[in-house]
Amino acid sequence: MGVEIRVEGLTKSFGRQTIWQDVSLTLPAGEISVLLGPSGTGKSVFLKSLVGLLKPDRGHIWIGDRDLPYLPERDLYETRKLFGVLFQDGALFGSMNLYDNIAFPLREHTKKGESEVKRIVMEKMELVGLLGAEHKLPGEISGGMKKRAGLARALVLDPEILLVDEPDSGLDPVRTAYLNQLIVDLNAEIGATFLIVTHDINTARTVPDNIGLLFLRELVMFGPREMLLSSEEPVVRQFLNARRAGPIGMSEEKDMSELEAEAKMGMEVGKLPPIAPQLMPSDGRVRPGQAPPGAWCAAHGVTPPPGSFVDDLGRNWVEEWPRYVASMGHSSAAGHGQGGQQPAGGAR
Ligand SMILES: Nc1ncnc2c1ncn2[C@@H]1O[C@H](COP(=O)(O)OP(=O)(O)OP(=O)(O)O)[C@@H](O)[C@H]1O
Ligand SMILES: [Mg+2]
Repeated sequence: MGVEIRVEGLTKSFGRQTIWQDVSLTLPAGEISVLLGPSGTGKSVFLKSLVGLLKPDRGHIWIGDRDLPYLPERDLYETRKLFGVLFQDGALFGSMNLYDNIAFPLREHTKKGESEVKRIVMEKMELVGLLGAEHKLPGEISGGMKKRAGLARALVLDPEILLVDEPDSGLDPVRTAYLNQLIVDLNAEIGATFLIVTHDINTARTVPDNIGLLFLRELVMFGPREMLLSSEEPVVRQFLNARRAGPIGMSEEKDMSELEAEAKMGMEVGKLPPIAPQLMPSDGRVRPGQAPPGAWCAAHGVTPPPGSFVDDLGRNWVEEWPRYVASMGHSSAAGHGQGGQQPAGGAR
């Protein structure tokens, strides 16, 4: 499962305002990618363009041999069925209980009978940990539950591609950790191609296989997690390390006088922090899209920052990995994990 999406030279403007231009990237089939960028750089516009809700000015969005922006309405409608989308605002119907909200796409887009609808809705509700909350209204549940309900609704049509816009906004760190684990587990389970927009640096550093960064109307960089986490490029470095010093200012771009003042004051970007081990599925399996820790750095002659790929217990996962994979061939490693950050998976 999961299909590749190839974006080529995509440009989008509203009137005279160019949102981004010449964006090219490939979302590899079945992998998790994260899109970062300061507020207002057009991340949500990018997701909406991918599903065909907004039409780009130029460029291509290839899914197999179909080029999305140029499909006739009927083919676009069909192609949209490949997508599950969780929009930034969640967009649950306030007057419908969770069951009916989640059942909505099935009733709208399929001819399934109510018993089949029920089977699917309950399966997805179980997957996101919402069993028992079927009769609750969106107004009666917490922000975290709303996100999970939105996620369940995005999953009912068994999407090949899952787009999620800021699943973690407004959530506390513990709920964010659970949600991140859920995303990794979902990817292992359904194998779809994931694109997640987030502002959470910890999410960006530990969840995805690939990271992209939008800044000043350009895609600054897109590539494997280890490539961006070891990058010296100033914008990438500042953003992924949540630093004040660097080219990104409060109003997106600092002017030259601000940058010069910083240089005089000796504000430096500092050393790159270690690359944390990637979050693993909680049942301990290895996702098909997951690369061995350190593989990208080794293949590209990049020395990762000191302390990289070491977990809280001091295990170095570049060394552990072959043993881990071999052991996974025999039994489940579920329960070996010590919280969410280690390759051995987290408690749920
Ligand atoms: N339908 C629209 N018509 C006109 N302008 C729009 C439309 N949708 C978005 N914009 C503009 O596009 C720009 C990017 O918006 P977008 O919502 O994609 O930003 P974002 O990166 O998702 O920000 P945030 O991190 O705050 O969610 C903004 O300047 C916004 O005002
Ligand atoms: Mg947005």
